[in-house]
Amino acid sequence: MLNGATARAAILGTLLTLALFSVLFVTSAAAQDGKQIFNNRCALCHGADGDGKGVIMQIAPFGPDFWKANDDAAIAKGKGRMPAIALSPEETKAVVEYMKANFKK
Ligand code: HEC
Repeated sequence: MLNGATARAAILGTLLTLALFSVLFVTSAAAQDGKQIFNNRCALCHGADGDGKGVIMQIAPFGPDFWKANDDAAIAKGKGRMPAIALSPEETKAVVEYMKANFKK
């Protein structure tokens, strides 16, 4: 039979394990979404590798100066020849994280 402290430790351990799994799962799901969103909504112009060699546009790649700008605003409002892209705040976050992880140099 479990005493109180052992039972509490077991419950705490279970909760920590669940929390860890949910963090891992949510993180990878967001990363996956970011890639999908970029490929579906951005790659036509920005290129699948963020190099600006898109199918319908040839534009500057995401260079070093690029990341100093507030990139989220350009997505929501559009900028220059880029139209506003309707994404939820979560989708915007996911796609920006994907871009930073893969294209930032
Ligand atoms: C129809 C073509 C097109 C699509 C689709 C597009 N972009 Fe752009 N994007 C551009 C162009 C062109 C620029 C350069 C803006 C300019 O003309 O100054 C740009 C610029 C940007 C910038 C830089 C803004 C800055 O401050 O310098 C970001 C960030 C960006 N795009 C992100 C995205 C993301 C994320 C997506 C997908 C959700 C996307 N774009 C989809 C054409 C596009």
